[in-house]
Amino acid sequence: MSPDLYDDPEFYDLLHAGYRDDLAFYRGLADDHGGPVLELGAGSGRVTLALAQAGHAVLAVEPSPAMRARGAARLAAAGCGERVTWIDADMRALDLEATVPLAIAPFHALMHLPTLDDQDAALRAVNRHLGPGGAFATDVFVPRFGAAGTAGAAGAAGAPGAVRAERLGDGDLFVWQTDDAANQVVVTEHRWDRVADDGGLLRRRASLRQRYFHRFELERALRAAGFARVRTFGGFGRAPVTQTATSWVFLAHV
Ligand SMILES: C[S@@+](CC[C@H](N)C(=O)[O-])C[C@H]1O[C@@H](n2cnc3c(N)ncnc32)[C@H](O)[C@@H]1O
Repeated sequence: MSPDLYDDPEFYDLLHAGYRDDLAFYRGLADDHGGPVLELGAGSGRVTLALAQAGHAVLAVEPSPAMRARGAARLAAAGCGERVTWIDADMRALDLEATVPLAIAPFHALMHLPTLDDQDAALRAVNRHLGPGGAFATDVFVPRFGAAGTAGAAGAAGAPGAVRAERLGDGDLFVWQTDDAANQVVVTEHRWDRVADDGGLLRRRASLRQRYFHRFELERALRAAGFARVRTFGGFGRAPVTQTATSWVFLAHV
């Protein structure tokens, strides 16, 4: 079993350094609703930084000490650390005694809630922290397995068993997935190999386990948690859901 990806934030950032598809969407919501923005699963601060640089205050909830430390360092290095409050908490048990106009769970953070009880608890907690007219936005991968050549649930490796290989930084990245369809769980394995100065092989390994949602399952869960208006888009440009969408983006209001 490989180490959890969130125990190696440096590797996490290497893997996602080029991913910016969601930043304009979440920043736009923050501009519309104002702050502070409650960010669930803030990780190493990828979205947090974009929000803080746009002038927004962020309550950044992140339970992984390693990810939180890297996020705080990133925000401080960018000179906007004072706009962000890092909170060591689990979104399922969030109790901040504060309400916000906007909560977000970017980059599939909800896919780390394995059971229905976990999901219900987290969505109810989000709902409780929103003031009147408040909004919640999140995104999840579209589960799509089986057909060769299609993107996998994590948009990563394609059909189960297929290995995606690509050059990343000064190494070679290999990614593959296993799909436990009965339990809606996908595990993504990452290996990154590079040649060390002495000619030896340096390998980084990490594993990511995610519980995937189907579209109407998450819409119903949002309704059950008290959200009145739930909209689903086929991407961050707010296009309608289509067969080819790789992410579903959910926007719900209290
Ligand atoms: C895919 S990462 C997203 C990180 C960051 N938002 C980004 O866009 O790069 C998901 C994050 O959710 C965090 N997470 C997992 N379970 C959580 C929970 N129960 N409550 C809050 N955060 C959680 C993980 O530690 C991880 O940092």
